Amino acid sequence: MTTSLHVEQAGGGLPLVLLHAFPLSSAMWAEQRERLASRCHVLTPDQRGFGASPLGPDAPDLAACADDVVALLDRLGLDRVVLGGLSMGGYVAMALLRRHPERVRALVLADTKAGLDPEAARANRLRVAQDVERHGNGGLVEQMLPVLLGSTTTTERPGVVERVRAMVEQAPPSAVAWAQRAMAGRSDAFDVLAGADVPALVLVGDEDVLSTVDDARAMTEVLPQGQLAVLDRAGHLSALEVPDAFADAVGTFLDGL
Ligand code: MLT
Repeated sequence: MTTSLHVEQAGGGLPLVLLHAFPLSSAMWAEQRERLASRCHVLTPDQRGFGASPLGPDAPDLAACADDVVALLDRLGLDRVVLGGLSMGGYVAMALLRRHPERVRALVLADTKAGLDPEAARANRLRVAQDVERHGNGGLVEQMLPVLLGSTTTTERPGVVERVRAMVEQAPPSAVAWAQRAMAGRSDAFDVLAGADVPALVLVGDEDVLSTVDDARAMTEVLPQGQLAVLDRAGHLSALEVPDAFADAVGTFLDGL
């Protein structure tokens, strides 16, 4: 079953879908909507359970998130789109590419990775899921903020730190648990990337400790038309930490399509 996603949109023309990170919402793309609206039609859905989208009754599986996005495209009458995602958004983009490759005109994969979690990280996701269900997501902020943001942002951009803190605090525990279980069960996506013969931009912050420059390089190498952009002084949430550099890289990529 698909969930009807709430979507924030800006601009017009070539459709660019941007899927948000865990445990955030479409609010993380505010700067990108503003900066990219003059060049394309930016669509930023709230993924199931986050922001204004309902969680739905399905068992945790990123395939369901991918199908939600396709149902949204159908609802809006959009056939092929430039599909982008940051971190968890990238995992969902790769799940969509596996299930519905005909809907993808080009790819933007930011601060994400195609490989599986090591067993300890997978076990930790399941532990976090159980923990937020029992105790709420109070502990999540302190656990996640230091790894979501790069060291430059942590020390020099207090406004960004506070904004991300507020977003993490607002994440519903039920959605956090669902998404952690779904991410724990995801498939290795290198085979999907190897078969994706479409223009593909891989972006990564040079201070990202969750999805590293090496992870980005590995994806770029298997993508038949992959190109890599490393963003300086940015961590895992590069789109928020260095919004101008992120929008410039995406804009230049779109100009080349
Ligand atoms: C995210 O930013 O979406 C998460 O850090 C992804 C993950 O936990 O692997």
